[in-house]
Amino acid sequence: MRPSLKLAAVALLVTGFYSYFGNTIPQARWEPPKKKEISKGMSPLELASAGREIFLGRGCAVCHSINPGEERRGPNLAGVGGRKDLKYLAESLYNPSAIVVEGFPDIMPPANRPPLNLTDEEITAVVAFLQSLGGKPTVKIGDITPPVAVARREAPQMGIDKPEALMEKYACFACHKVGEKGTQVGPPLTGVGRKGQDYIRESILYPGRVVTQGYQNIMPPDLGQKMTALEFETIVRYLEGLK
Ligand code: HEC
Ligand code: HEC
Repeated sequence: MRPSLKLAAVALLVTGFYSYFGNTIPQARWEPPKKKEISKGMSPLELASAGREIFLGRGCAVCHSINPGEERRGPNLAGVGGRKDLKYLAESLYNPSAIVVEGFPDIMPPANRPPLNLTDEEITAVVAFLQSLGGKPTVKIGDITPPVAVARREAPQMGIDKPEALMEKYACFACHKVGEKGTQVGPPLTGVGRKGQDYIRESILYPGRVVTQGYQNIMPPDLGQKMTALEFETIVRYLEGLK
């Protein structure tokens, strides 16, 4: 990716994650994004327009681009409405582990669970938006039957209160020290919180981009790809707190 695209991706990431966690992490003066009311009588086109805002503002765009050729952690969704039918689109949102697109890790959280946490109406609106990409929106509220019980995935729930266990799971301590814990192959992370959230996100997602002075760029480049969204966010918050 070109640096300008990377920057755009990081900017999107930040916006996206803010909306994921704005509700769960108390923050002074944080205002929730204005929610567009979704009502029963809305036409598929109106739903698609509401769905677009949800897609861009509530976390999907963190992992998916809708511009042809742009790569993110999940498949590019340009033209997806022309390729996939309603049933497939709904299933990809409610139960992403059921059909895992070849070449991608199974990291997408079900849209109706944290951190995405969309309502059934919001999911229908997002499906209308996806249909509009390369196709014509047809879905209306009530057309999609939400699955009764999608098996709960362990991953998105784990570790929110155990960031150190996540740091161990992804072998961060093999190269980094926090206090007395870990090994000093890379820079110690005590105090890294002072460099700010954006810097920390970038260091994990694109370790080659900003190489800390005095160190070699040996940090694995695919750590961000391996983590779930919640794991990534948990680690970022943890490091941010190391002031
Ligand atoms: C943490 C990253 C992540 C987030 C957040 C995420 N996705 Fe995904 N998504 C993926 C990955 C990776 C795949 C491919 C693996 C799979 O199929 O589960 C995927 C697959 C899909 C597919 C199937 C694409 C195809 O070509 O078959 C659709 C549709 C989709 N996502 C839509 C969404 C929407 C809409 C949202 C927001 C409600 C969302 N995703 C949020 C990572 C993510
Ligand atoms: C194989 C060793 C290795 C592993 C594993 C590793 N890192 Fe790193 N990391 C480095 C090195 C070396 C640097 C300094 C060079 C650079 O910036 O790329 C670094 C830089 C960083 C920085 C920037 C620190 C600063 O002060 O500028 C952060 C933040 C970071 N790593 C977090 C992590 C996290 C979180 C994990 C686990 C998910 C991890 N690293 C895993 C070697 C590693």
